[in-house]
Amino acid sequence: MKHNSRRSFLKNTALAGAALAANRWIGGLAAAPSASGPARLYIDPAQKIASLDRKVFGSFIEHLGRSVYEGIYEPGSRLADAKGFRKDVLEEVRRMGVPIIRYPGGNFVSGYNWLDGVGPKDKRPVVLDKAWNTIESNQFGTDEFMQWCRLVGAEPLMGLNLGTGTPEMAAALVEYCNQEGGTKWSELRRRHGIENPHNVKYWCLGNEMDGPWQIGHMTAREYGLKARDCANQMRMVDPSLQLIACGSSSPGMPTYLEWDRQVLEECYDMVDGLSLHCYYRNDDQETGAAGDTARFLSFNLEMEEQISQIAGVCDYVKARNRSGKRLWLSFDEWNVWYRQRGGDGGRKRAPHLLEEVYNLEDALLVGGFCNSLMRHADRVRIACLAQLVNVIAPIMTNEDGFFRQTIYYPYVWAIQYARGDVLDLAVESPTYEVKGKGQIPYLDVAATMDGKTYSLFILNRDLVKPHDMEIVWREAPPERVLFSQVLTGADLKACNSFEDPKKVAPQTFEPPIIGTKTAIQVPAGSYTVIQFQ
Ligand code: AHR
Repeated sequence: MKHNSRRSFLKNTALAGAALAANRWIGGLAAAPSASGPARLYIDPAQKIASLDRKVFGSFIEHLGRSVYEGIYEPGSRLADAKGFRKDVLEEVRRMGVPIIRYPGGNFVSGYNWLDGVGPKDKRPVVLDKAWNTIESNQFGTDEFMQWCRLVGAEPLMGLNLGTGTPEMAAALVEYCNQEGGTKWSELRRRHGIENPHNVKYWCLGNEMDGPWQIGHMTAREYGLKARDCANQMRMVDPSLQLIACGSSSPGMPTYLEWDRQVLEECYDMVDGLSLHCYYRNDDQETGAAGDTARFLSFNLEMEEQISQIAGVCDYVKARNRSGKRLWLSFDEWNVWYRQRGGDGGRKRAPHLLEEVYNLEDALLVGGFCNSLMRHADRVRIACLAQLVNVIAPIMTNEDGFFRQTIYYPYVWAIQYARGDVLDLAVESPTYEVKGKGQIPYLDVAATMDGKTYSLFILNRDLVKPHDMEIVWREAPPERVLFSQVLTGADLKACNSFEDPKKVAPQTFEPPIIGTKTAIQVPAGSYTVIQFQ
């Protein structure tokens, strides 16, 4: 079944009746609109949610469309180095500081034989990738990915084939990657010229195995048992691994939560984390009618609801098992994605697939997702913006270079400015009504504190009005502003392109005058970052 058929299994991502689990509200009210005055934000350094695991700002590279080929790897290009890596993209990803990158899929991984992608390049087979109906040359594989990760400074998050693949071959890949030498698979790696082990710590046990579109799709019980055996064999090779079981591929799945419960009932004690995925759309999926942007900008609160629901299932199984172990969550696919859904590569090499063009409103919501991931730092340890290059991505390439899509900016701000502990903020904000969801706060704020450095991330969902906000420092206020920028604009549908690469780009945000109370004004429809010290 092709990826497109997934459509029929997903409801519109707008869930009904979302309880808002975002910022804490003063006085325990469900929503506390500030009367007529400015919104208010109380910052208390003693109120911490958790220390931020920066792996929540990871990304994803799949053998899909032009993500690998023409994206990060293009031998023969004047922009490539001697290994065939695109130097411009490599340098950009290194500068961004992406902390962890998932690979090689995605749907692709469920039919992938990792042996096809290692060893002398002239001996690697050309195969048909059935997930995306694409010709796969295998010129880029595990060893190239590890080399590339080292060069960009990212940690690998390796996906395993639990569709057509066996636990035996999953364990063999661990041995290939992590064993020094002296065994069949580690010696194979050494014969391939890679002396030192790659030491891969984080592994995904399959991909979206709940989805009928997935190669090797199975029931939750079957998958849970396979994941258990797989984890067991992998840990025999390397007991230090961190393993992520495949959770529901979306809250719209008919088996949502039930899948997660049954899977964990089979393998809870053998895994460390559970995966979540979700893509968000600003249209009506059934009719194709244009979406409602005010509603769309509240979808990061649905991400939070999903996190809470899945965490609830994990804790239910934990309690039933009388287990002392608390699973963490890996939100290893998330993004806006609804315009370029066609997944048929027409049996071409590196076809243009899923090349979604992002606009300003998408970027604002991506900022909201970053806020939500920060606020759930106590539970989410890994998350991946899907994906990184050319395929539903912040970076788009052609043969002459690359440009940054709108979503690049909030994502990179989160990577670069969110540090240390995430603070539990109290926010007073006016609200607006979203049908079926209740009152949504206009202002969505996340903050981190690293020593004496505070970083604030503010989404203004009000598309018409700027909002004044008073920041109340519960302890000594900072002394200066280190950085302040805003992403905003008159046209929410504006996009970047090769012709106009900076149409949507950050603007300077006038640094506020700091006092015990610090007044700022955020523009209508904006995402702002301010770093204080
Ligand atoms: O990221 C694109 C695809 O979306 C992935 O291959 C799959 O896991 C998900 O359905």
